[in-house]
Amino acid sequence: MDKNFGEIQALLKKYNQEHLLNGYEQLEESKKQELLNQIEKIDFELVNFLYQSTKKEHTFGQDEITPINYLDKYKLNDDYKYYESIGKKAIKEGKLAAVTMAGGQGTRLGHDGPKGTYDIGLDSHKSLFELLSDDLKEQGKKYGVTIPWFIMTSRENNKQTVEFFERHKFFGYQKDKNIFFFNQGELPMMDTEGKVLIGEDGLVKLAANGHGGIYEALVKNHMVEKMKQLGIEWVFIGGVDNCLVKMVDPVLMGIAIDKGVTVACKSVVKANPQEKVGVFCRRNGKPNVIEYTEITDEMAHATDKHGELLYGESHILCNLFNVKAIERMGATPLPYHMAYKKAKYIDKEGNLVVPDSPNAYKFEAFLFDAFGEVDDMAILRVKREEEFAPVKNADSAGVDCPKTARDLYKKFYHLD
Ligand code: UTP
Repeated sequence: MDKNFGEIQALLKKYNQEHLLNGYEQLEESKKQELLNQIEKIDFELVNFLYQSTKKEHTFGQDEITPINYLDKYKLNDDYKYYESIGKKAIKEGKLAAVTMAGGQGTRLGHDGPKGTYDIGLDSHKSLFELLSDDLKEQGKKYGVTIPWFIMTSRENNKQTVEFFERHKFFGYQKDKNIFFFNQGELPMMDTEGKVLIGEDGLVKLAANGHGGIYEALVKNHMVEKMKQLGIEWVFIGGVDNCLVKMVDPVLMGIAIDKGVTVACKSVVKANPQEKVGVFCRRNGKPNVIEYTEITDEMAHATDKHGELLYGESHILCNLFNVKAIERMGATPLPYHMAYKKAKYIDKEGNLVVPDSPNAYKFEAFLFDAFGEVDDMAILRVKREEEFAPVKNADSAGVDCPKTARDLYKKFYHLD
């Protein structure tokens, strides 16, 4: 028996989680150790806190929500060239890196494998990862640089992701030289009584801690250090599932540099006031995103003197950060949001439970909750048809699915 066993038992007793060792004796030796290591790393104070938070009613009433300014990329007139030249200079000087967040579970799409490996059905049968790499390489060439690429994975999909890249010779990138892989943090899932779940493999059921885990993961895995060694000052952070994402945008970068802000985000205008997207706003004076579940009908329809929606700039997970901002954000814990999900688990009696409706809590941090760290940021409205083709759902959903993304991609690149 491992020397930690007694201490682990005591720890679990203290936090009322003794069931985690119920299946211990049946595990193979290597897994026994893994389970103990997992338990040792869990912050049970945080687990308790998160469980308590599931019972609280979330009210946003006290927050003061106000509109935030934005620039429209296609109404910049002479300033367009001005910002562009500033951004171009910085890119040519090798100051830009790209980060792709690929740690999500992609449950809605239902693809068997990491989402980035998904073939959206183009004639080329290129995966999302390859489509992203194509653009990144193409842009790099334009500026005479190789733009370093950092890929965030989760424990669940890291091996498959790296193997996929290996099979494709890293799409011309060189591992640990200009392409880097790192894992994001995880949190245990728990049942409605606050008991941490054991998964089918007999180990603690851990889930990626949301795209808000990016800052901490970049810092803890020494990726920020690596960026600094490479002379990087600006980092574009985007999702893996937008096949039209433009990770290299000199105008966005020029605006950030010229305005002296450390965060600059892209937005697309809401398709209609009811569209279920988060929109940029100020929350208690600080930049933030208001979720569609939070926004009142009145706010969703409110317009300015030009007839534009006051809260019409959708957050599309296309954000540029100064390295210093990432470091600061990585040092500040973000709040966790709770999601109620279906999760298979092994119950206290050792039986596998396969639910047909949600039964477990999962906790995720959201990237935009860190925006409040800065007093000001720039928002640049871009064209949806040029920059936003998300792959979220299976084709049966009819929206934000492989078919819609493929159509947008083909249209943009004139592939028909
Ligand atoms: P989504 O919020 O759309 O989640 O992620 P998802 O995992 O892709 O899909 P569902 O909700 O399970 O169906 C937006 C982006 O953030 C990344 C995803 O990989 C995607 O690029 N992400 C999300 C992470 O990297 N880690 C996470 O924990 C969550």
